[in-house]
Amino acid sequence: MFSIDTYVARREKLKESVKTGLLLFLGNEEQGLNYEDNAFRYRQDSTFLYFFGVTNAGIAAIIDIDNNKEIIFGDELSIDAIVWMGNQESLRDKAARAGITDVRPYSELKKYLHAALVKSEPIHYLPTYRAEHKIKLLQLLNVGIGEETPSVDFIKGVVNLRNYKSAEEIAQIRLACDITADMHIEAIKTLRPGMRESEIAAIIEYVALKNNANLAFPTIATKNGQTLHNHFHGNIVKQGDLFLIDAGAETDMGYAGDMSSTFPADKKFTDIQRTIYTIQNNMHNAAVNALRPGAKFEDIYDLSAKVMVEDMKSLNLMKGDAEEAVKAGAHAMFFQCGLGHMMGLDVHDMENLGEVWVGYNGKPKSTQFGRKSLRLARELEPGFVLTIEPGVYFIPELIDKWKAEHQFEDFINYTELEKYRGFGGIRNEEDFLITETGYEMLGKKTPLTPDEVEALR
Ligand code: GLY
Ligand code: MN
Repeated sequence: MFSIDTYVARREKLKESVKTGLLLFLGNEEQGLNYEDNAFRYRQDSTFLYFFGVTNAGIAAIIDIDNNKEIIFGDELSIDAIVWMGNQESLRDKAARAGITDVRPYSELKKYLHAALVKSEPIHYLPTYRAEHKIKLLQLLNVGIGEETPSVDFIKGVVNLRNYKSAEEIAQIRLACDITADMHIEAIKTLRPGMRESEIAAIIEYVALKNNANLAFPTIATKNGQTLHNHFHGNIVKQGDLFLIDAGAETDMGYAGDMSSTFPADKKFTDIQRTIYTIQNNMHNAAVNALRPGAKFEDIYDLSAKVMVEDMKSLNLMKGDAEEAVKAGAHAMFFQCGLGHMMGLDVHDMENLGEVWVGYNGKPKSTQFGRKSLRLARELEPGFVLTIEPGVYFIPELIDKWKAEHQFEDFINYTELEKYRGFGGIRNEEDFLITETGYEMLGKKTPLTPDEVEALR
């Protein structure tokens, strides 16, 4: 945990922002994988971690702004739990380390909320992302499942704090990024034709665990990088394949790193692999060089997409005016994902609170194919931590669909594109802090240029 002062100050700022009412924080529960006692890896809710730091499962908290109370509701370990899982620091002591002295049994939560409901006090809660949260809102507040009305004031209050990373958070994210870089470097060195994808996924997890970290999200380690979030690890890698890794570490404090690498199964790229890889590098470098406070991230996405279109034109895969092509959405034949996202206690930071609040500052998102996957669009500010991860993907099903529909024939050369339909996909991803004057890359350097990649093979 951070110091008491950190948690106390965060809660004070949140209270100043929301001003009135009662803030309800639902922690996470253990979740059975295939039966109750064989559970998924447990992870506390990130907003709960941010304001209270306590990782216990099955607890909740209330900040009652008008009555000046901060309470954690939860039960100490039973003797059965201690016998099977071991003893640990008491909930009361952990809560005290976050500056909370009022700890009550979980059964008192409903009574406390009922008293507030009777007095018609506003009760704020956040969007739900687990079934258990929905059930709890039903049990505690009689909110019907599917009828939740999360508090926009509460969401904005949390986002306006968590979007700006403090020095102690940046140290944690830097640690996560250092471990993430080692996961990638070890994997890039290890892959040989004939290996199964799962052997590389195993190396990645090994390096994370060896460094007292966990995986921040399920690892992508695939020869089919054209499938953007491909979690299958069963293929045998062959000579001539490209291999794409998207993997990140989560520190024991819960902070994430998130990087992607693409490299050949052989020691060297083929000529065409190097050419397409260089297009991705050009998109990536254009975006990184544009990072600075005040820059609108959607403009950086447009810039990166335009660089791609110009390069595709030189390969005769695209034609026409690059600006027009990007405005129309034709670039999404190759660049279907966003350019990057906020990162912190979640790999896609606060995605559960809504990208419109986190990445768009309340403005609506585009519905255009490709652009709609942009998770971040707002003006950048010092303290933001984000990823840069443009990609170039050849997706046969998308090629066939758009070709049959005569989509973007002014911009896409479908005859030439047929030659590339089995090429695969390329993504590289690095993590950045926006500073007062520009940006800082977080974590150890991983190979980016084709020469840097080949040097590790
Ligand atoms: N690391 C997965 C993603 O950013 O979507
Ligand atoms: Mn990412």
